[in-house]
Amino acid sequence: MSYAALPTLRTPRLTLRPLEHSDADAILDGVGNYDVSRWLGGLPYPYARDDALEFIERVHRQSLMIWAITEGGALLGVVGLDEELGYWLARPGWGKGYGFEAAHAAVAHWFANPENGDLVSGHYDENKRSRRVLSSLGFKITGHSPRFARVLAQAVPGTDVVLTRDRWQARQDFTLYTPRLTIRPIEDRDAGAFARLTVSDITRMLSRLKTGMTEAEAQANLPRHKWKGLLHFTLAIEYRGQLVGTIGVGAGPASVSYFLDPALWRQGVMTEALSATLPELFERFPIAQIFADHFEDNPASGAILRKLGFAQTGQRMATSMARVEPAPLITYALNRDDLKVPV
Ligand SMILES: CC(C)(COP(=O)(O)OP(=O)(O)OC[C@H]1O[C@@H](n2cnc3c(N)ncnc32)[C@H](O)[C@@H]1OP(=O)(O)O)[C@@H](O)C(=O)NCCC(=O)NCCS
Repeated sequence: MSYAALPTLRTPRLTLRPLEHSDADAILDGVGNYDVSRWLGGLPYPYARDDALEFIERVHRQSLMIWAITEGGALLGVVGLDEELGYWLARPGWGKGYGFEAAHAAVAHWFANPENGDLVSGHYDENKRSRRVLSSLGFKITGHSPRFARVLAQAVPGTDVVLTRDRWQARQDFTLYTPRLTIRPIEDRDAGAFARLTVSDITRMLSRLKTGMTEAEAQANLPRHKWKGLLHFTLAIEYRGQLVGTIGVGAGPASVSYFLDPALWRQGVMTEALSATLPELFERFPIAQIFADHFEDNPASGAILRKLGFAQTGQRMATSMARVEPAPLITYALNRDDLKVPV
């Protein structure tokens, strides 16, 4: 492959495109920051504009699988596969899930070619952010070895990780089994059953679900909710082969909203479904918190959230498509370490 053949990759928020000479200043800006460069072993330090130009030249010359991570035309960082998967984001881009989103696209591109084998990477032990990105992608620890830190002019403790093709492939699905339920990504065939569940007992408790949806309306909405490996998807809850509810997983910030067929209420079904889903969300995405809310006149939902470790964060007035007037809404957050799974 020549570098010119490196495809542009698009994610919900980012565009990964080939590097250009005009990226040198933005690269210098990004890795010129000690906060960024301290985590990067191989880069010259201090970093100069010529280093950026040389890097871009080398990527072109060697046709490396390395992309500029951009958002709205601005370069946020770089991701790619040279000897190992590596990435950096300029300081303002941290904490928004961009690292995971960009690395996910690069890794997906790698495994899309059936000839490509396992991917390796690694991080300094102190680099907890990168550890979370790699573990969320499915990388497993294979050992510990010192990694050179140019900034400190010495080797520091490091962790080696690998992502096998089998493990990546297993991650392309999101199906969970509990004693009574199958929880799986929503599909086109669910549209009819989904539409039949949009009764007012359910829609009144949600903000944006229309009452009495037709199958065609549900079908039209479905593509936005399909599982694509990133946050923002809907899980179908299946009981005895039937769709009986869903868990919507939101992005930015991570959140859940859910409903269940009234015929199955008060049998612990939603507690069972969320008990399986929440740990998986923390495992698969580099998130520290998951948010949720419920209308004040929906104590059952509050009971579930508190049981699972969510804590109340506030209260505000909110609208529902199925209510005439705004109503009080109670907001919650669940910290990763506070998750309680009832047994
Ligand atoms: C909320 C909903 C998902 C609950 O599902 P479910 O399977 O019946 O919930 P569970 O049985 O797992 O748990 C409900 C808990 O609420 C409790 N509860 C039920 N009614 C209650 C009430 N009126 N007051 C206080 N607690 C109540 C139950 O006792 C149970 O807690 P427990 O297991 O400690 O006894 C379901 O009622 C629903 O789909 N409602 C409409 C849509 C909706 O409200 N979605 C949530 C939006 S925030």
